[in-house]
Order: sequence, then structure tokens, then C-alpha cells
Amino acid sequence: MPAYSSSVNNRKNASEEKLKIEYLLDREAIAKDDIQDVIEGLQQPQKSLPPRYFYDAKGSQLFEAICQLPEYYPTRTEAGILQQYAKKIVDRTQARELVELGSGSSTKTRYLFDAYQSLNLPLTYVPVDVSGSMLSATAEDLLKDYPQLTIRGKVATYARALKQLGENDSVNNSKRRTIAFLGSSIGNFSVSECDCFIAEVSSALNPGDYFLLGMDLQKPTAVLEAAYNDERGITAAFNLNMLQHLNHRFKGNFCLDNFRHRAIYNRAKHQIEMYLVSQKAQTVELKSLNLKVEFKPQETILTEISRKFNLAEMAKYLGKRQLKAIQTYTDERKWFGLLLCQFAT
Ligand code: AVJ
Repeated sequence: MPAYSSSVNNRKNASEEKLKIEYLLDREAIAKDDIQDVIEGLQQPQKSLPPRYFYDAKGSQLFEAICQLPEYYPTRTEAGILQQYAKKIVDRTQARELVELGSGSSTKTRYLFDAYQSLNLPLTYVPVDVSGSMLSATAEDLLKDYPQLTIRGKVATYARALKQLGENDSVNNSKRRTIAFLGSSIGNFSVSECDCFIAEVSSALNPGDYFLLGMDLQKPTAVLEAAYNDERGITAAFNLNMLQHLNHRFKGNFCLDNFRHRAIYNRAKHQIEMYLVSQKAQTVELKSLNLKVEFKPQETILTEISRKFNLAEMAKYLGKRQLKAIQTYTDERKWFGLLLCQFAT
């Protein structure tokens, strides 16, 4: 695996460099998985596509726009909680290393950096993201604002980064670590995917280390459905853009006018379900996959589940997996929650 390091200064001692970014993406394996997920997903009775197909360049822009929408409360609610409690979290953990899974632009994480700065604690930040361009641009910006940070980024999938973090621990005398997973991205995982993910997180923690999890909480249907059916139609554009992405990627001929966005809250399963609904009988071809897909009128493609949680239940679930809840943080409406867990000592 080629590892590439970049540095923003000229210090000779490599271990003192403020910024290193390691590339751990196995492009071939990812391309294979991507193809298989599309082929399998579109051949099931309930057609489905993985939510990671939302995030091409256009989709990432649309997601940023969603986060600003008046109806889409999760981002600003979580930011508010972090702003309020960052100092308490940092003070409680005293961690010297912060791993963030899916770090993106690290915007909310800045509240934690502010807390480290005001408590005068040194920190090694380990952002993990599949977008190398996003990760390096963000890292350079962060070092300008937080010169005391040391950054050790990983361009990697969560699984690959966590595996490597677990392996290195047996070699290095590692620092107290917090792994953060913010934004309720955990809501995209099915129950079995969640089990697998939590096992991977645990394998990257030493006894006494921490896991900080952000999750969207259960609330009235009307509030949830409004958040995924915004007035301006940005979420609809975000959903439909997945078809455009597939067209580019696999020489497809999805006609976006022939599909509609639908988001409903499934109360029994406590999850938002986003669908693309075929407006007529049609056949779509993905040429480079050698795949033809037939749609009946009103037939749906499931593009995302976004699970909504109960803090006490999540604490219990993680507790059974050696992650002991030590503190919960929430907003006054209890719309979003942060759970701080410690790996069993
Ligand atoms: C990034 C998965 C947390 O589920 O709310 C936003 C994605 N989808 N609007 C979510 C999303 C539609 C978002 N997550």
C-alpha cells in the first residue's frame, strides 16, 4: 500500500511534522464493491442503492445546502450541543488523540479544538475521510486556526482506518484516544451493519479509551418528515442526483423527470426512508454494467434509511458491547443526542 506524506513545514524530524496524510484507499476493491452493490441492489424485489452514491461533487454541495435548511435541524442542533459541552467532554476524557470518522469539513469538530485550546491541552487530530481533496484542504485550514494541533489524516474507509488504528496500538505506546462519529451518520446503517461497525470501533480502542457518538433522536413524525421534504426541494434534488451520478459513472440513461423524491417516517422501525418513485413503466440501462432494469409504475428504489434513536436504548446497546455510557448530552428539545462512552477497562 503506498503511503504518501505531506508536510506544511520543513522540520527535519518527521515525527514533529504538523501534518501528515496517509492514503489507504484500495481503489480496485472499492470499484468492485461499488459495482456489485448497484447490480445487486437493482435486482432485488425492493430495489435499493447505497447512500454513499449521494456524494459525488454535486451531491456533496447539495448536502451542504441541506444542512443550512430551516427544516433540517440535525446539523445545527448537534453543533449547538457541541458548542455548549465541548469543554466538559474534553475535560472528562483528557484524550490526547481524536479520531474523527467521516470528518468532511470538520466544522463541528472545531468546538472540540476550541476546548483543547482553552484548556491548553495538546491534541493529535486523526481525520478519516474517503475524500483526499477535502481532507487535505480542511487540514491546512485547521492548522492556520489551531497551530497547536498535530494532524495525522487518513484517506480511507472507516473499516480500513479502524483496522490500522487497532494494529498500530500493539506496536506503539499509544495516547488516550477518543473516536468521534458525529452527524448521525450511524443512522444510515442497518442493525447488522451497525453491529459490525461497533465491533470495528472497539477493535481500535484500548481499555479506557472513548467513543463519542452523535445521533438524531425519535420525535414527532411531522418534524421528521419536514426535515426530509423541504419546501425548496433541495432534498429532492439531492435524492434525484443519485441517478445522475449513476448515469455518469456507469453510462446510464436514467431520466430524472421520470422519478420523484419520496421521504416517509416509518414509525414502527423508527427510521426515515427515502425513495425514488418511478412515474411510469420504464426500462433503464446501465451500459458499462451491462445491466437493464425494469420499473413498474410507482415502483420504488430505496436510497437511504436514516434511523432515529433513543439515547437510553443506544446506551444499553453499546453497554452490551463493552462501550459503557458515561455521559449523555442533548439540546433542550431533546432532538439530537451525543453519547460519550468508555471502552471497558
Ligand atoms: C448524513 C446520513 C446524517 O440521514 O439525515 C440528509 C443524510 N439525507 N437529508 C441524514 C440526509 C437526506 C443525513 N446523514
